[in-house]
This record gives sequence, C-alpha cells and structure tokens, in this order.
Amino acid sequence: MSDDLETLREQTVQALAAATDLREWDAVRVGTLGKSGRLTALLKELGRMTPDERRTRGGALNRLRDELSRLIEARGQELETAALNARLAAERVDVTLPCAPDAQGLLHPITRTIEEMAAIFGSMGFQLAEGPDIESDWHNFSALNTPAHHPARTDQDTFYLPAEASGQPERVLRTQTSGVQIRTMLGQEPPIRIIAPGRTYRADHDATHSPMFHQCEGLVIEKGITLGHLKGCLSDFLRAFFQMPDLPVRFRASYFPFTEPSMEIDIGWSRRTGQIGTGGDWLEVLGAGMVHPRVLANCGLDAREWQGFAFGMGIERLTMLRHGIPDLRSFYESDVRWLRHYGTSPLSPAMLHEGL
Ligand code: PHE
Repeated sequence: MSDDLETLREQTVQALAAATDLREWDAVRVGTLGKSGRLTALLKELGRMTPDERRTRGGALNRLRDELSRLIEARGQELETAALNARLAAERVDVTLPCAPDAQGLLHPITRTIEEMAAIFGSMGFQLAEGPDIESDWHNFSALNTPAHHPARTDQDTFYLPAEASGQPERVLRTQTSGVQIRTMLGQEPPIRIIAPGRTYRADHDATHSPMFHQCEGLVIEKGITLGHLKGCLSDFLRAFFQMPDLPVRFRASYFPFTEPSMEIDIGWSRRTGQIGTGGDWLEVLGAGMVHPRVLANCGLDAREWQGFAFGMGIERLTMLRHGIPDLRSFYESDVRWLRHYGTSPLSPAMLHEGL
C-alpha cells in the first residue's frame, strides 16, 4: 500500500477510536466515505490515470475502501450499543427500593381493626358496604322489626334529630350499623355478602360507653344458608382476628328483634388474668342470628327462597381485647403517646398471609 493510503488508513482508524459519540463518528464517516470524503476524492482521481496506474492504484483503493467501511460500521455499532446502555442505566428505576418511609404518622387502632376485619372477611368473599351516620328511624328501627315500644327507641339511648318540615321521616344518629342491612337488601339483588364498618351513636357516657363508637355489621343472604354457616364463619373470623386457631367460641341464645334465632357469641378467657383463649370463663364479643323473615319481607325478599345471617360487633371492644387496652375513653383523647404506642404503620397493611 502506498504511503498516502497508509496515512489515510492510520488517521481514519485513530479518528474512529477518538470518536466518543455517534455525532463524532458520523463526522469521520462522512469525512472519509462521503461525497467529498478523503477516500472518495482519491477514487475520483482514478479516472485521470493511465490503465496500468489505474489497475494497481484501483485495487489498493478498493481494498482500503472495503476495510474502512467495515471499521466504520463496526465502530458505529459499538457506539450505538454504548449509547443505548447509557440510556438504560440513566432511566433505570429500582423497583425493589422501599417507598420513602415516613416515621411520623400512624394509623389509629380503630382504623387498623377495620382493615383487619376487611382482610379476614374479604378472604371469605365479603364486600364492604356503608350507610349514612344520620339515618331514618325506619332504617334504624322499623325495617329491622323493632317494635314501637322497644327500650332502644327511648330518648335515653337514641339521639333524635330536630324534626324537619312535617311529612319528613324522623331522623336519628344511627344507634347501630344494622340499618346497612336494610339499605343493602333494598339496593342490590342477592346473593349478598357484606360487612359494614362505621360510626354509631348512643346517649351513654362512662368508662365503658362512649356517645360515639364504632360497629361492624355483617350480612349474608344466599340460598340454603343455615345456622351452621353462621357458626363456621364467625368462629373462623374470631380465631383469625385473635390469631388463635384453638380459641374457644360459644354460641349462646339471646334476643334481637331482627334475627331469629338470635345469639350472643362468647370467647374463652380468664376473668382473673384477662388473658384470652384460656381460663374457663366466657366473654361476650358479638351479636348475631338468622335474618328474621319479617326483615327479609320488609326488603322485598321471600324467606322461602332466601335465607341469611347477620352479625354486629363493637370495634372498640374487640380492639381493647386484642391489644389489652384498659380504658375506652383513651381512644378519643388524641394523646400522642397513646397513639404512638397503639398505632400501626400505614406502610404495613393488614394482610392475611402473614397471619395479619
Ligand atoms: N345491632 C346489634 C347491636 O347493636 C348487633 C347485631 C347485629 C345483632 C346483627 C344481630 C345481628 O347490639
């Protein structure tokens, strides 16, 4: 190869190595092989040569063009790959990083208990339902088969709202979440499986009663539902909630106007130590029963076709038992030390696969 071709080759190789991005690389490519590139200029000179000169020079030039084309192409791919890798690295998101933990702010134990109830009943196919805190007397009492003379209706227990213009239905602050049973049965076709956590109100205030508290209602309406389903469902719930697979559970006959038969459900505990699950004493934790045929009829359902059970429980009460909280009033005092002690991180949601 003649000296000038050798020089061109050397310089091109060096320029390619020095090109650090595709823009610089393209300048080398155009400067060598482009219309007025250095190699192109040499090829053009061939036309002015004698046939002999042209043969030797032409062969050398063509080999050099092939070689440089290959080198340029290879360097181009190298730079393209490097550019892509740089972009991927720059745009990478580490999905394994924890989201920025906020050390401040914890969930109130009431909120936590509601989430745990939703997780447990959710795993049994229940959906969340809700109703208004200001409820009609009809939804809160009458539709639930509560007779006009029932003690719960007296002013002592129920907050009645000032009467509106005549003809308006009487309104109360709901004394129980059971009205959501009525709203759900009127609002959707069975089969139904819902829980309805929410606020409830009663004119009562001492160490174990607050004028505002929380209940969680449950309702199942399906074909062929029996007391056996009620017992299985609520035993499973209580054992999951208290995280004790062998928690003793007792179903004791009781009375509610809207269920028949009705029962109160007790769990085993020790009166002496307060420990749950052992000790031979019984503690009432919730009310339940088979939905009364009259309640089904009030909601347009035929009791010969549809059966179901309902239950209701106090969220504060279950939370106190679960965490050993002695005084109901502490739930509403907004004492930051109490909240720090009993609160849970919003970053670890209630999930069943780790046992809550
Ligand atoms: N509403 C009842 C109460 O407040 C509890 C309950 C709900 C009982 C559903 C039976 C069925 O005491």
